[in-house]
Amino acid sequence: QHKIILDTDPGIDDAMAIHHIYADSRLELLGMTTVFGNVPVTTATRNALHLAEMVGADTPVAEGAPVPLVQTPNPHADFVHGVEGFGDYPRTNPSRKKDPRSAAQFLCEMTAEQPGEITICAVGPLTNLALALEHDPAIAKNVKNVVIMGGAVDAPGNVTEFAEANVWNDPHAAQKVFDAEWDVTLVGLDVTQQIVCTLDDFAKVSESSPEIGEFLSQISTYYINFYVNNVGLQGCALHDPAAIIALTDPELFNTKHVALNTVPDGNEVGNTVEVNDGVRRVHVCTSADSDAVRKVFLDTLANADARKAARQ
Ligand code: BDR
Ligand code: CA
Repeated sequence: QHKIILDTDPGIDDAMAIHHIYADSRLELLGMTTVFGNVPVTTATRNALHLAEMVGADTPVAEGAPVPLVQTPNPHADFVHGVEGFGDYPRTNPSRKKDPRSAAQFLCEMTAEQPGEITICAVGPLTNLALALEHDPAIAKNVKNVVIMGGAVDAPGNVTEFAEANVWNDPHAAQKVFDAEWDVTLVGLDVTQQIVCTLDDFAKVSESSPEIGEFLSQISTYYINFYVNNVGLQGCALHDPAAIIALTDPELFNTKHVALNTVPDGNEVGNTVEVNDGVRRVHVCTSADSDAVRKVFLDTLANADARKAARQ
């Protein structure tokens, strides 16, 4: 059983990751923290609360950073995720309220209460993690480890030729997170771009889990259209779910242990470059058994409605 806190900007593939987490009995979701990125942070918070309500969970959601640490904010990714974050799905209106704490405070307090027990999974820009390190540097030793969807080390970027979106949205935060004294695994485009799901896959999930499956089918339609028209894939890349599966099923991923430099500005802003300068290292996923990762994702989601029923 892995205890996790998810730092997220939902977002369509974030929603996939969140439903995957709720459907996987090996994961205990202690909280979510939200960050700007795919959508404004207030939208991310509403969407995270909505997803928790959808499965009958009372997961606390603490809101985090509305903007990056240093750079001018990039536009939100409405062309990929829709203005409200879930494609054409209507604006969410959860009944529960957010946690009164900031994301940084929530991350620090939760990990201090259970030292060495909690994994932070970060699938948005890394601003909240950088702010948490500033708020209480002890988080670096209190956390069990950190798994991140972000970066493109050997692969090309997705927002520019060089940069992956989460790192591009806050390269200064990314560098602080890579350099801190905690155990980091980076699941970037080198692997996530190879793990592809189609509308047929989501239709199959709907056969065993009609409620969650149909929600995911609906929001994926928008996301997959983006991929078909702009990336030349026949389905969508499973970015954020891949980071969760790298935690539960690490044997499906190959890694290298390297130091990373994040380009802070200029033409290559957000590029994550391997360097040999003896600073702290991170585990970078270099390849994965894509078919097996995709299967873990789809098999887990097939149980989503049953897991929801068990929670009630
Ligand atoms: C990452 O950027 C966001 O758009 C996705 O949700 C994912 O976290 C992929 O580069
Ligand atoms: Ca995300």
